Amino acid sequence: RHIAVIMDGNGRWAASRNLPRIEGHRAGTKAVQEIVETCGRLGIKFLTLYAFSKENWKRPAREVSRLWNLLEDYLRKKDQELVKNKIRLLAIGQRNGIPASVRKELEKVEGMTRDLDGLTVVLALNYSGRAEIVDAVKRIFRERNIDLDRLDEQTFARYLYTASIPDPDLLIRTSGELRVSNFLLWQMAYSEIWITPVFWPDFRRLHVLQALVDYQKRERRFGAVHGQPAADV
Ligand code: IPE
Ligand code: IPE
Ligand code: MG
Repeated sequence: RHIAVIMDGNGRWAASRNLPRIEGHRAGTKAVQEIVETCGRLGIKFLTLYAFSKENWKRPAREVSRLWNLLEDYLRKKDQELVKNKIRLLAIGQRNGIPASVRKELEKVEGMTRDLDGLTVVLALNYSGRAEIVDAVKRIFRERNIDLDRLDEQTFARYLYTASIPDPDLLIRTSGELRVSNFLLWQMAYSEIWITPVFWPDFRRLHVLQALVDYQKRERRFGAVHGQPAADV
């Protein structure tokens, strides 16, 4: 139902070609196009793309501003195509930290695609998994009439940015890094993880299919015992 992707390795892809890092980000948009198309065709319901973490603000200002520009351009150019393909766009992350012009474009496209029922593409922008959990706690405390004794995991999850999104079944990370980098910490509790050395700009349909074939061989036990139905707890 849901694939989440840490799109990593744009900078190294560019460096290996003696290009500036931003050219790696630019080339990465081709991979975005391809994974969106592939997931749409396969009938996958949710695709979450980690596009900008809260920690990415630590990068040189020039790279940061060009990254946001790239995203804004992408949204501006692709809006009709999204509608045509029945793709709904959503963003998760701290919205008030997103540059105003990008946020405006983003909210326009979210509005245009709100009722579409094909693939939902979730962009993680100015996103941090820890910040998301803290934000949820703040919202819970602000709600005066909540009964803390009855707060359970299901209720808590309704205060996350991902309230309307199922947990990822599969996490893909490109460029070979073996870490989660503050992505969907709560939601990833039982996600299957697939890591490829391929840099994000080189990621193609074939790699999506490889990840899915591998996923199909996994046995998701959720803490229960192999081959036995889960007992009620
Ligand atoms: C991922 O590629 C894109 C973003 C984090 C925005 P990187 O820019 O992290 O590329 P590497 O990891 O430096 O190669
Ligand atoms: C994770 O990649 C963030 C995105 C893909 C947007 P990073 O390149 O920022 O992660 P680290 O710094 O290698 O952990
Ligand atoms: Mg990186």
